[in-house]
Amino acid sequence: MATAPCNPAPRPAAGSSTLSERDFARIAGIISEHTGIKLPATKHLMLEGRLRRRAGLAGFATIDDYCAYLFEEGGLKEEFQHVVDVSTTNKTDFFREASHFDFLAERIVPALLAQGAANRTIKLWSAASSTGAEAYTIAMVMAELARSNTGLRYAILGTDISTAVLESARRAIYPRPMFDPVPPALQRRYVMFDNGVGESGRARIVPELRRKCGFQQLNLMDKSYPVDRDVDVIFIRNVLIYFEPAVQNAVVTRLWGHLRPGGHLILGHSESMIGTRMGLPQAASGVFRKDPN
Ligand SMILES: C[S@@+](CC[C@H](N)C(=O)[O-])C[C@H]1O[C@@H](n2cnc3c(N)ncnc32)[C@H](O)[C@@H]1O
Repeated sequence: MATAPCNPAPRPAAGSSTLSERDFARIAGIISEHTGIKLPATKHLMLEGRLRRRAGLAGFATIDDYCAYLFEEGGLKEEFQHVVDVSTTNKTDFFREASHFDFLAERIVPALLAQGAANRTIKLWSAASSTGAEAYTIAMVMAELARSNTGLRYAILGTDISTAVLESARRAIYPRPMFDPVPPALQRRYVMFDNGVGESGRARIVPELRRKCGFQQLNLMDKSYPVDRDVDVIFIRNVLIYFEPAVQNAVVTRLWGHLRPGGHLILGHSESMIGTRMGLPQAASGVFRKDPN
C-alpha cells in the first residue's frame, strides 16, 4: 500500500496567483487617472502582494480570479475603493521631518498670536494625512502652545483618498513603537499607554486631542476641494512625489487658494523644489508663505 508523503506539496490553485503584466497595466492606468499616483513597473511586486491579500479577503482563490471579477464581471465598481487603498503608500510617523513642527511652534503660531489670532480659531490642514500621525503631531504642538497661551484655539483637518487610513486616523490607536519620536513629556500628556485601548502593544491619542482633529475623504486630483479658504497652515508632505510635475503644480495651486493671506504651505523636504520651481515665496526649507496683502 502506498503511503502518503509527510509534507504533501500544496495543490496548485486553478488560476495563477501572480499579477499579470496586463492586469498590472490596467490597474496602474486606473490608479493614475483617479489618484494621480504613478505606479511604475518597479511597484509590480508590491501591488501583487497587496492584491493577493485583498483577493483573499474578498473570497477569491487567486489574483487572476479577482482580476477577472474586476474587469470581466463588472466588479470594479464595488471593489474600487479597495483597489485605491491597496495602491497607496501610507508610511507616516509622529514628528516626521521635525523641523517643520519647530517652525510651526516657534515662528508661525507666535506670529499669528501677535496678529491677534487668539480671537479666532487657527485652522490647520494635513492634506494627505494617512493614518493621522501628522495631524496628531500638529495637535500636540498646538496643545503645548495652548498651555502658555490661554485662549489659543485651533482646529485640525486631516484628509486622504484612502478610507482605510482615515478609519485608522479616527481610531487614533497606534503600535507603541510609533510613539518613540514623541518627546517623553508629550507622551505623558497626550498618549494613553495603559488604558482605553485594551490591546497590548498599542496606545491611543487622548480624547482631548482627538476632538481637535476631524478626518474626511478628499481626492487631491479633484478640481475643487470642499474645504474652507482661510486655512492658516497646510501640510502637504510626502505625497506630491508620487505625482507627475503637471499634477504637482495643479495640486499646489489649488491648495494655495485655500490659504488665508499670510498663510503657510508646508511641503516634504524631498518635495521642496516643487514650491521653488513654482516661484512660491519661501520662508524656510519646505515652507512657503502666501503674501499677507
Ligand atoms: C506617504 S503618505 C504621507 C503621510 C503624511 N503626510 C506624512 O508625511 O507622513 C501619502 C498619503 O497620500 C495619500 N494620497 C495619495 N494620493 C492621494 C490623492 N490623490 N488625494 C489624497 N490623498 C492621496 C495616500 O493615501 C497616503 O496616505
